[in-house]
This record gives sequence, C-alpha cells and structure tokens, in this order.
Amino acid sequence: MITRKSREELKLMRHAGSIVALVHQEMKKAVCEGISTYELDQIASKIIRDNKAIPTFLNYHGYPASICTSVNEQVVHGIPSKDIVLQAGDIISIDVGATYRGLVGDSAWTYPVGEISQDKKMLLETTEKALMAGVSRMISGNLLEEVSAAVEDVALSKGLGIVRQYGGHGVGRNMHEDPFVFNYRTGNKTVLKSGMTIAIEPMLNLGKDDVYVLDDDWTVVTADDMASAHFEHTVLVGDDGPEILTKLS
Ligand code: MF3
Ligand code: CO
Repeated sequence: MITRKSREELKLMRHAGSIVALVHQEMKKAVCEGISTYELDQIASKIIRDNKAIPTFLNYHGYPASICTSVNEQVVHGIPSKDIVLQAGDIISIDVGATYRGLVGDSAWTYPVGEISQDKKMLLETTEKALMAGVSRMISGNLLEEVSAAVEDVALSKGLGIVRQYGGHGVGRNMHEDPFVFNYRTGNKTVLKSGMTIAIEPMLNLGKDDVYVLDDDWTVVTADDMASAHFEHTVLVGDDGPEILTKLS
C-alpha cells in the first residue's frame, strides 16, 4: 500500500530532510585525502543527534553505523571503518538517513576526493543528472514508470551500467515503504498521486550492471570492479509538482 502523507507529516519530513541536507553540506567539506570513513560517520552522527534526530540506518536489520560510505567499486551499504582512508582519485557515496519525530529523510550523494579521472567525472555528472531527470517526473497523474524510464534513458545515453537489484522506495514513517522504484523500465502501472513521498536513487556503474554482496553481508560491489555512483533524494509528489524534501531549509 502506498501512503499519502498529511500536511503535518510533510512538515516533519521537510525537517528530517533538512537535517539530512545539513549532514551532506558538512560531508562535502569533510571529504578529503586522509580522512577515514569512520571519522565521516562520527561527524554525521553528531550532526543528526545535535538536531534532535536519530540516525535511521543505525541498527536497521543490524546495520552497525549511522551512514553508509561506499568507495569506488562499492555501490551501496559500505560500512564506515577506521581502516578505510580516502585517497585522491577516489569517489565516495555517502548515504544519510535521519528520523525526526518518527519521519524519515533519506539522501545519498557521491563526492570526488581530490582530482578524479574523466571517466569518474562523467559517472558522477550522469548519475546526478539521472536522479534529477527522475525527480522531474514526480508529478501527480504520471506513471511511476516515467520516473524509472527517465533514469534509464540518462544512464543509457552514456552507456553506463544500471544496478538492477536495488532501487528507490516509498519513505515516510518507515525508511522503506511501497512502492519499489526500479531504475529501468518494467511496465509498472502505479500512478503517482499528490502526497506520496518517494526516495529516487539511481546507482550507475562505469562498467556492467552486475553487483554482489561482500562477506560482511552489507557492502554491495560491482562484479567487474569498476566504479559506481549513487545519488538519492527524498521527493514529494506535490500539488504544484515535485518537491525535494532532502534540501536545506
Ligand atoms: N538509502 C539506503 C536505502 O535506501 C539506506 C539503507 S542503509 C541500511 O536502502 F543500512 F540502513 F540498510
Ligand atoms: Co534510500
């Protein structure tokens, strides 16, 4: 069942989203050569708690940290660690969730560390563009399929791999609600209605589509070891068009 949020719930989701955006603003500044992903987790966790919110991911199905940090060939759900130290040329996806008075904001962004290759620049630009193309189709009366198609078209225009096993999702009182959002066409007939809140999250690869999960049972990596990027926003199907909820207020 896809829920439609009340005015009061949306107020809280905007607030949760603004906390997530605040974390990203600080992550962008903090990401540099020499910092560990553990340190990034500490910074993020403090900002979330200082804003009277709860890190949504911590303990979710036993997840052991507040954010996900996925470097280079890691796609999503990388676990922060003192042993993972960023180097120039890396890219790092940072996924952040904050729960404020019971409502969730969920957003991921991929950051460059120092100078990165042309290929990686293209990967970041294209994945962000795919996200924004999907967001722009979050209009009442549209099929959810149009969001998926918009993401797919941008990915294929640059020959990028599309991760098939993971996708976007409804979000609100729970981090994962209906509907599931594929990042490619599936013939889905779900119709978008105002008040629906959905996390759109393309995961695109420089190489092929295939991914698998490491022995830590969390970290998803590309099968061909090539770099992957991930961009995500929590978005409202608003009365006047799409509204990104995970933005600074
Ligand atoms: N943004 C991620 C998602 O939509 C967050 C889940 S990470 C987890 O799946 F560790 F909490 F599972
Ligand atoms: Co998500």
